[in-house]
Amino acid sequence: HETFHVSVLGSGGVGKSALTLRFVKDYFVRDWDPTIEDAYRKTLEVQDQLCMLEILDTAGQDDFESLRAQWMMDKDGYIFVYAMDSRTSLHELQPFFELHLQINETKRNLPPIILVANKKDLVEQDPAKRQVTSEDGRRVAASYNAVYMETSALTGSNVNAIFEQFVIEARKK
Ligand code: GTP
Ligand code: MG
Repeated sequence: HETFHVSVLGSGGVGKSALTLRFVKDYFVRDWDPTIEDAYRKTLEVQDQLCMLEILDTAGQDDFESLRAQWMMDKDGYIFVYAMDSRTSLHELQPFFELHLQINETKRNLPPIILVANKKDLVEQDPAKRQVTSEDGRRVAASYNAVYMETSALTGSNVNAIFEQFVIEARKK
């Protein structure tokens, strides 16, 4: 059956691994163990059709900046992640977006981006921690021509939905 390749991108600590492991293994990673690069695959059914997702969970740390283009090459699309309690993490997605435009400039259709606002549980529990409104997130998503979704890797809220939505978008291309 069809296989889709997706990279999960964004700053350190926003929850890329937590979202990926919640989706692939259904548990929550409480400790931050910075990623270098991890690959996972999972079969899922979307729109009554089975497919395979090959997920590349990448490093957010600046030390690995030189690998970004490689992570983004030959992908069917991207999951961009920021954390709602960090405005910086939203701004730090901009270089990934610019790389996306460069890398995919010769393609007839640009690969889809899902823009994920993670750690929803955190800002719901303590609204003082919120640094990015949903409105700001949506605005950035619109400028990236991306689908906007809010998640919590802790509760699992909307986590399967981001990967399912990714498949739906990737099938349109
Ligand atoms: P790098 O691999 O360094 O790029 O970081 P990452 O984006 O993979 O972050 P990771 O998934 O390791 O999560 C960093 C920290 O945030 C961990 O302590 C997680 O438990 C926590 N975290 C991730 N997602 C959530 C969430 O939705 N809610 C809460 N409350 N904490 C989260
Ligand atoms: Mg990680």
